[in-house]
Amino acid sequence: MNVVDGRTTTSFLEEVGKINDPRTTELLEQLDREGKNYSWGEIFSLVHMLLGDRSSARWICEDAAGSTSAEFLTVLDRKITNEELGRVSSMVARRLNGEPLQYILGYWCFRTLKLKVDSRVLIPRPETEQTVQVAIDVINGWGSPADELVVADLGTGSGAIALSLAAEVHRSLEIWATDNSAHALDVAADNLIACSNELVQLPILSLGSWFEALPPRLRGRVSIVVSNPPYISHAERIFLPREVAEWEPEGALIAGESGLEGITAILSAATQWTTDDGVVIIELAPSQGEEAKAVAKDNGFVDVQILSDLAGRERVLVARR
Ligand SMILES: C[S@@+](CC[C@H](N)C(=O)[O-])C[C@H]1O[C@@H](n2cnc3c(N)ncnc32)[C@H](O)[C@@H]1O
Repeated sequence: MNVVDGRTTTSFLEEVGKINDPRTTELLEQLDREGKNYSWGEIFSLVHMLLGDRSSARWICEDAAGSTSAEFLTVLDRKITNEELGRVSSMVARRLNGEPLQYILGYWCFRTLKLKVDSRVLIPRPETEQTVQVAIDVINGWGSPADELVVADLGTGSGAIALSLAAEVHRSLEIWATDNSAHALDVAADNLIACSNELVQLPILSLGSWFEALPPRLRGRVSIVVSNPPYISHAERIFLPREVAEWEPEGALIAGESGLEGITAILSAATQWTTDDGVVIIELAPSQGEEAKAVAKDNGFVDVQILSDLAGRERVLVARR
């Protein structure tokens, strides 16, 4: 008996179909009461039906079963325990309430790392994986591999950028990971500890607004600045999906009236903090490329490029002095 066994699954769904409103606590309580006689395959079908999203259903069931993706296929015939059912019910209820899947799971995968995420930090996005790749390429192509470079990830959130650089770059770096949110830095600290076995070097976490979080001794000594700052304007807030606007931290999303405030603050202070050959890499919204380029040039950067993602949307500013 498993998820593709039409007869068994159908009879289970008929049972569930007797419940009038599938989006109620009552249904979840019913699941709690009745589900204990069912297999993981059947519960997966139910969760899929409730969420209308196979991928989320799979993540939730795998997590509640304590199995990897491959292992989950081997537990489909096994009866679900009461404890597992409690976990599934709670996660489904949170998802139906609109909470992002990543916060429910409590982690998300970013490049090579599994990072803790909760409502104190932005959920790391796939486009930021590309921003990290740009930074890795710049670092690996830099001077002699023996040179120690100072790298600053401004607005580190979960630590996604700084920790990925620390895990993937095999040359000596002094990495600073800063944020103006103490709550975000707490999450970054947890991730630093949890990922420490995978890191080639340990980033230094520091609280403060952009460059102000760095010690004065680093003035003129930072070779590479990487940042994914907030870049949404107040006016654009209404266009955000509810799941983002209602759950992710406002300070990680909204930059100000124009949306360019964070980008401008970083670029206008960058020449005081970077080396003469310093590079600033900033993730931005596809509509901000030209304006951000102008801000970089106004602040003394000579070679300014905007790189596009695989879909051809402008996403990353690379500014050299
Ligand atoms: C878009 S999130 C990026 C988080 C993470 N770097 C990532 O890519 O997933 C922006 C981060 O910048 C931080 N931030 C906002 N304003 C800041 C400021 N003035 N100084 C430092 N960090 C700031 C926010 O707290 C948030 O963690």
